[in-house]
Amino acid sequence: VQRVAVLISGRGSNMAALVEAAKAPGYPGAIVAVIADRADAAGLETARAEGIDAVAVPRKGYPDKAAHEAAVIAAIEASGADIVCLAGYMRLLSADFVDRFKGRMINIHPSLLPLFPGLETHRRAIEAGVRIHGATVHFVTFEMDGGPIIAQAAVPVETGDTPDSLSARVLQAEHALYPRALAMVLRGAVRMSGEKAVFADAAER
Ligand code: GAR
Repeated sequence: VQRVAVLISGRGSNMAALVEAAKAPGYPGAIVAVIADRADAAGLETARAEGIDAVAVPRKGYPDKAAHEAAVIAAIEASGADIVCLAGYMRLLSADFVDRFKGRMINIHPSLLPLFPGLETHRRAIEAGVRIHGATVHFVTFEMDGGPIIAQAAVPVETGDTPDSLSARVLQAEHALYPRALAMVLRGAVRMSGEKAVFADAAER
């Protein structure tokens, strides 16, 4: 099985969903490291309780963004990870960071991209009046929330939804989507080529 590092900033419920899914027999990856940019990220405890190496690399421990990123990269590389999953990692990555893990780093975003990149996606979806919302897993590229799409899940917007109620419904969908999308990447069912996602024929897998 391939080795997966997960980067988080907070709760880590998507990380926990990946950890659960990876316990299933035949899952093509193992979560070997969880790295947070905040010492108080609740997900660190969740990961440690599962016996996973979980480290905080707080931004304020470093003089600048480049030094912080170098420390995060060192932690990823120390874990021997083949693939990096961003799971609520709320930090923009430099071009160097993105380049180093090109085609090997994926992110989950709480909207049906290319709609609603950035923050507060649920409030913005409600304000836009869309009746279908959802989540996207994509390869990470230089463009924030702009990389090639691997998989998406659609979620209905219900009458009377608030950002909180909609976010809870989307989060449930995220927890099923992310393990499925990661497995696709690990199995070679999809890979990044140039700036595009290329999907293998079932026969090639
Ligand atoms: C998730 O909804 C994830 O899609 C979102 O943050 C939440 C993290 O929750 N990510 C972004 O907004 C990235 N820009 P979690 O820590 O419980 O997985």
